Amino acid sequence: MNQRVVEAINRQINSELSASYSYLGMSTWCERQKFVGAARWLRLQSQEEHMHAMKLLDFLLARDCDVQLRAIQAPQSPFASLLDVFERALEQEQDVSQQIDSLYETAFNEKAFAAVAELQWFLTEQVEEEKTGREIVTKLQRIGNDQPALLEMDRELGSRTGSTPAPATT
Ligand SMILES: [Fe+2]
Ligand SMILES: [Fe+2]
Repeated sequence: MNQRVVEAINRQINSELSASYSYLGMSTWCERQKFVGAARWLRLQSQEEHMHAMKLLDFLLARDCDVQLRAIQAPQSPFASLLDVFERALEQEQDVSQQIDSLYETAFNEKAFAAVAELQWFLTEQVEEEKTGREIVTKLQRIGNDQPALLEMDRELGSRTGSTPAPATT
């Protein structure tokens, strides 16, 4: 596969792992604030991001390409509120969407069609991720400082059942 595409996918693996690490940091903060539902939601999200990284990594391996694992940025903390956590989560997803778009563009321009097909799933996934993030942020904005509503929201987040596995590459 074209070297520019391989390089770009390697960067995306790093970015998905950074997102995973960042969600883990958010989960830890929530747990310590006794928002255990949000902590659970964020830990599952962290696992999902890890699976995204593995999906891209397996794709590179399946294509017999060079995998380069790089340093992962330390996550930001602490947070001001539950709303602050999810606002940053949404920002992170918006950044990832842009990265996926430009990765797709690179693969397309370099006529790396197998990569284009692989990345299709990520484009759809990002639409879903941003939608979910926006819904949570909006709810938390409405809730504001209403403690019972905040507890109810935490319970709702805690009902998340599991992370959706990304379909395998091969
Ligand atoms: Fe992701
Ligand atoms: Fe994500």
